[in-house]
Amino acid sequence: MRKSSSRAKIRKAVIPAAGLGTRFLPFSKAVPKEMLPIVDKPSIQYIVEEAVASGIEEVILVTSRGKSTVEDHFDISYELEDTLAKRGKTERLKTVQEVSRMIRLISVRQKEPLGLGHAVLCAQEVLGDEPFAVILPDDLIDSAVPCIKQLVKAYSQYGKAVVALEEVPDSRVHLYGIVKAERIKGRLYRVRHVVEKPKLKDAPSNLAVIGRYALPPEILKILARLKPGKGGEIQLTDALQELARRKMLYGYQFRGIRYDSGDKLGFLQANVVYGLKRPDLKESFREFLEKELNK
Ligand code: G1P
Repeated sequence: MRKSSSRAKIRKAVIPAAGLGTRFLPFSKAVPKEMLPIVDKPSIQYIVEEAVASGIEEVILVTSRGKSTVEDHFDISYELEDTLAKRGKTERLKTVQEVSRMIRLISVRQKEPLGLGHAVLCAQEVLGDEPFAVILPDDLIDSAVPCIKQLVKAYSQYGKAVVALEEVPDSRVHLYGIVKAERIKGRLYRVRHVVEKPKLKDAPSNLAVIGRYALPPEILKILARLKPGKGGEIQLTDALQELARRKMLYGYQFRGIRYDSGDKLGFLQANVVYGLKRPDLKESFREFLEKELNK
């Protein structure tokens, strides 16, 4: 039998992808924002690849109406594979097959937009009584060691919930969960308090929670009891605050660079950075950018 406790290994990751994506209208009217391409892959694929590279064995995708293309993307496409095989397009066939065989993916629905905490709670039955990761697909993180792997490692070392932390400028404090925390050592913090999207004047610091979490199963019980918080939504931050109150919450200032791919500027930045990394594109893309900037 598998060990069912908060000290068990993190094998599952919840990816909440049920949001309306209003920051990306009109694009997101008929196409999920998670399908926006970064070079030639939908942004959600980078997120699932991060999970795979971090040793996650099962992804639980929380979706809503109109998100079926996200599920289709990770499914086997028999017609496409058959056609590519018959035409001898082996490289392309391999690329397509890699996506559908990447990981075990289960999808659950969030029927009403009741908040991030509620979205995580929708995965409860599939999660069972074991610790899990949460990866928010808007936060694309470019790092040598995958961000969620850094958190999973800290979780297994210290046996406490761990959230990703990043310092943000004053002008962006109101967009994040903000912590009051003290450094334990290196990049590790003890989180005393966390507040969802405070006004700058009420913010306890500039340290923001970024969309990567390593969580104990107890948080599901906390979420189930929560009343709506900020914006009338069930907030994951409120459940984290309860963990902080019980002295069960750490933060980890991850190594890596984050792009908010759910935001127009962040999306463009990610495309430039990831485009410049691609061996088949980098030279001509760099040349083009240089010319464009020197105009
Ligand atoms: C969510 C969380 C917030 C967190 C942020 C990270 O907000 O509620 O606490 O700081 O993700 O990206 P959202 O961006 O979904 O509004």
